[in-house]
Amino acid sequence: TDFDSFITGLPKAELHLHIEGSLEPELMFELAHRNGVTIPYGSVEEVRAAYDFSNLQDFLDIYYAGANVLRTRADFHDMAMAYFRRAARDGVIHAELMFDPQTHTDRGIPFEEVIEGLLSAMKQAETELGITSLLIMSFLRHLSEDAAFETLAMAELWLDRITAVGLDSSEVGHPPSKFARVFAAARAKGLRLTAHAGEEGPPDYVYQALDQLQVERIDHGNRALEDADLTARLAAEGMTLTVCPLSNLKLCVVDDLQHHPIDRMLGEGLKATINSDDPAYFGGYIADIYRAVMEARGLAREDLVKLARNSFTGSFLPREKADACL
Ligand code: ADE
Ligand code: ZN
Repeated sequence: TDFDSFITGLPKAELHLHIEGSLEPELMFELAHRNGVTIPYGSVEEVRAAYDFSNLQDFLDIYYAGANVLRTRADFHDMAMAYFRRAARDGVIHAELMFDPQTHTDRGIPFEEVIEGLLSAMKQAETELGITSLLIMSFLRHLSEDAAFETLAMAELWLDRITAVGLDSSEVGHPPSKFARVFAAARAKGLRLTAHAGEEGPPDYVYQALDQLQVERIDHGNRALEDADLTARLAAEGMTLTVCPLSNLKLCVVDDLQHHPIDRMLGEGLKATINSDDPAYFGGYIADIYRAVMEARGLAREDLVKLARNSFTGSFLPREKADACL
């Protein structure tokens, strides 16, 4: 439709995308076969039927199990290329890929295999599809501070090709404060900082991400809206929120897209962006999500333009490059 071509034609950046969450069931089967790994599903349909989650942990258990088919750098390359091809069709011109090294290194997969596979896909995506990208290395917050420091040490040889660090996985019970020292160490190495906060965790976790981690972005941030002072502060600071409406629906952060606070966020002056989080698990890539929120919340074209602009100004691109995309 007219509207679909408006959305896909709008240049967009994706700022909150776990590359392991882009692994579609078809490719999962292909990689299982390639690597001689058995998976607990008989068919692609069975895999999709298992993607019925009632909270974040429910999803994470299945997501970490799915990542078990990823073994070689070719696997990481193929997964990332599949994402870039799909994102290009939706009008994504810049993508900031989160990856979870610990999900792989803890299974004995060398850090080098993971990152070199991703980097080669990023290079190919730029030449073949014209998509620029950068990497955000995320620490798993259900693991220890020491494990995060070990991961940062493993990344040493590649620090010039890693733009930022992030913090993801099980939120409640693993507050940002647990990672204050490793984030300070990452910052001292010149890395930029983001963290998941306020997806399931309370507003206090958003305060901790700001004050104890000194992040430049908040991934999700939904629950910040429960605190008027925090909301006002995020707006005043121009803090980017990487919001993931379809993820919020599938993980029961909202009970219906019609109750999603995306337009309330914009109304409060928050710098919100729209992102897919784990598109293979949540059933939609970025244009689907723009369309879904527009239909559910009655957003106008100017709101979608605003969200797309925010995705560039909130990106980790150098200022001049981000401005050139507006
Ligand atoms: N890892 C992948 N997706 C995630 C999410 N939405 N929240 C926390 N950790 C994640
Ligand atoms: Zn996420």
